[in-house]
Amino acid sequence: MSKLPINPFKFGDPVEGDYYLPRPDLENLVSQFLVNRIHVVLIGPRRFGKTSFLLNLLKKLSERSHSYIFVDIFNITSHRDFLHQMLRALKARASWKDALKSMFATINKIRPKVSTQLDANTGQHSFDFTLDTAVSSESDVKELIQDLLSGLGKLGTGLILAIDEFQKITEIDDGGWLEATLRTYMQQLRNVSFIFTGSRRSVIYDMLNNHSRPLYKFCQPIEFPSFGDEFTYWVLKRFEDVGIKCDPIAIKHLRKIVQDTPNYVQMVCFHLVALGKEVITIEEVNNALKIVVQQNAYAYQTLLSTLTPTQQRTLRLAAKEGKQIFSKEILRKYEISGGPALSSAIKSLKDKEILDEEGAGRGTVIFDDPLFAIWLRTSFDD
Ligand SMILES: Nc1ncnc2c1ncn2[C@@H]1O[C@H](COP(=O)(O)OP(=O)(O)O)[C@@H](O)[C@H]1O
Ligand SMILES: [Mg+2]
Repeated sequence: MSKLPINPFKFGDPVEGDYYLPRPDLENLVSQFLVNRIHVVLIGPRRFGKTSFLLNLLKKLSERSHSYIFVDIFNITSHRDFLHQMLRALKARASWKDALKSMFATINKIRPKVSTQLDANTGQHSFDFTLDTAVSSESDVKELIQDLLSGLGKLGTGLILAIDEFQKITEIDDGGWLEATLRTYMQQLRNVSFIFTGSRRSVIYDMLNNHSRPLYKFCQPIEFPSFGDEFTYWVLKRFEDVGIKCDPIAIKHLRKIVQDTPNYVQMVCFHLVALGKEVITIEEVNNALKIVVQQNAYAYQTLLSTLTPTQQRTLRLAAKEGKQIFSKEILRKYEISGGPALSSAIKSLKDKEILDEEGAGRGTVIFDDPLFAIWLRTSFDD
């Protein structure tokens, strides 16, 4: 049997082009806010497509009226890291060479240098800038962050500053300095709209709704929506394009089981194609899911072993029951001593980013990683 060279599904990294199903309503809504200089925070679970959406939107807006800077702060641990990521994002915008040069001319700790190398793609001399190595103290770094932000005011009108995985700034132990600094520039820079994405709902909501914090009521929060039926049809079409027949019910089933996480829908479909299936049914989906979950078994086992017995039981409970988890019978069934013990285990599991709360619902929790929930359900089946 001939194997198809190109798999129509992709997972893991942000997607674009044929691998990306557009979200026109959300695009319109977010564009409206940004174009009118209302700062936006997009809140949604991990692997739901926030980064893909953001990159596609920015690209579209930049083809029309706006230019943008995309800063990914997922791995930052300090102000220096934040500064580094800002510089990286600016470097990616080679077409701003002249504007950046004049901007950096006023910041003497960053030296622009134009190298003599010709860039084969653009036909232009490549442009780079380096941080003065004398910059070492924390106060220098802070000063530079401020200089860079205020320099954005010189980059012309209609600029969008996007910060991906925004909640990370709260993990820097600086007494809220970065949060407050951003707020200052969000207010001052009349030519810049800000958009942030975040996956830790409770952290982001506290930032926006706690009146003692700098960003209190300062951004428009938008819940990142799940796809509707159009996602199922899109998946069917992707299969069809490579000659695979798929039962719509199988995809609906898959979406439900992975908490409608597009990343896992694409991951399981990728495996179905790779396995050489020609007709896809619910059973085939379940088999592929089993394989995918099994690939992570070692990681899940390791993670479990770092938790206390009550936390482990809480996870088992959450994976199997989902709702009404505080009821007496359920606590007894899972050998948890009482409501307070369950609450405190849930809190620790949230801090570890294993669980999160769903919307406003009390007594309902969701897993950060739906595959982990599936693994728990199957390994502790009675
Ligand atoms: N609009 C989309 N259409 C199809 N698949 C998507 C879409 N958005 C996300 N995905 C799937 O989800 C994966 C993760 O997307 P990503 O944008 O990195 O999510 P997030 O930033 O929310 O963690 C992608 O690799 C892709 O498989
Ligand atoms: Mg992302």
